Amino acid sequence: MVKTFTVGLIGAGPVTQAIHLPTLARLDGVRVAGVMDPDMAVAQAVAATLDVPAAANLDQLLQQGVPDIAVIGSPNAFHATQILTLVQAGVRGILAEKPLVMTPDEAQAITAAIEQQGTALVVGAMHTYDPGWLEAQELVRQLEGPFHVRSTIYLPANARFEDRATNMVRPAPAGPTGSAGGPPNPAQLVHGAVMGLAIHALPLIRGLIPAWERVEHAAALAPWGYNMTATGRGGTVELLARMPGTWRPDWQLGIWGAGTSQAALNFPPSYVHNGSAWGQVTLPDGATKAIAPHLTNGYVAEWQDLLAQLTEGAAPRYPLVHVIDDVLYAIELAGLAAAAIAGESEVAR
Ligand SMILES: NC(=O)c1ccc[n+]([C@@H]2O[C@H](COP(=O)([O-])OP(=O)(O)OC[C@H]3O[C@@H](n4cnc5c(N)ncnc54)[C@H](O)[C@@H]3O)[C@@H](O)[C@H]2O)c1
Repeated sequence: MVKTFTVGLIGAGPVTQAIHLPTLARLDGVRVAGVMDPDMAVAQAVAATLDVPAAANLDQLLQQGVPDIAVIGSPNAFHATQILTLVQAGVRGILAEKPLVMTPDEAQAITAAIEQQGTALVVGAMHTYDPGWLEAQELVRQLEGPFHVRSTIYLPANARFEDRATNMVRPAPAGPTGSAGGPPNPAQLVHGAVMGLAIHALPLIRGLIPAWERVEHAAALAPWGYNMTATGRGGTVELLARMPGTWRPDWQLGIWGAGTSQAALNFPPSYVHNGSAWGQVTLPDGATKAIAPHLTNGYVAEWQDLLAQLTEGAAPRYPLVHVIDDVLYAIELAGLAAAAIAGESEVAR
């Protein structure tokens, strides 16, 4: 008999409702067993649609029964402590949303705990599992540097995608994220945006530019976004994101290598369950290969990876050390960008 894994949902907001529940509905061998959210109205509304108990905190969820798999869909600041609690409680697998953690100390703490318990871990970095990207990556590996990489992301408000993916129950609005309760300053905004949005592109970029040297320029954009240039071992990077807007969503990754070699890739926006990345890669010999969109997407693939680890003992596509290095790479860039903004404002004064 095929085992059905129980799943506990930690945080019942947009990522859980509009990404993980539609994805779980496409998969065999998984059954949601509990929903936790400190906003009990949200927890109960989501739990009711699944006919499972709601919990207001993690202890309560674990008392109702330790799930086989936990999904961490809570705000970023809670990921590390919740991973530690869940690992100690004995869950077999964790699908933790990006960013995995927010600091190097948190990275060290979860590494020790996960290694000790042997918990399977997948990070919800869906582009790293996207079948179109994985096909392109095989070709991109043939390109030679130095590289220039450009990530551009223009999006409408998340709510537009969430509402197309599901019937959303909205959490109460989050409070301000700046220090002393005020709105974030530009350095904080860019730090948060790198950890929240640029982080989707950074693991892909890390394969070409494995270490940062400096951020030359970083700025916060209105209504929300960033514009920055950076240099690292292996080449240069431009990152641009702006949202929300009324324009057509556009999410691209451009890679320029030696000579005429290059890659131009497009990704579906977050929340969109409509196939994979697509684009083309021009190899060093001048041959251009098209990457046609695959029918499946990175959200399904990340779950399949976790389930293969649990059912077959399969090796993870990305071992723990790899996902930790991914998040440390993002943390370092976020810090460099925030420092560049602080430095630039001092010059302007
Ligand atoms: N992979 C993707 O495409 C994608 C898309 C959106 C969000 N995310 C990630 O998912 C996470 C959640 O983001 P979101 O957009 O769903 O909304 P969010 O961060 O605003 O809140 C999600 C829910 O968490 C609840 N919450 C607050 N404190 C909590 C706690 N201590 N424990 C559990 N739940 C708590 C809130 O009440 C809310 O219902 C973030 O880490 C984000 O980066 C990933």
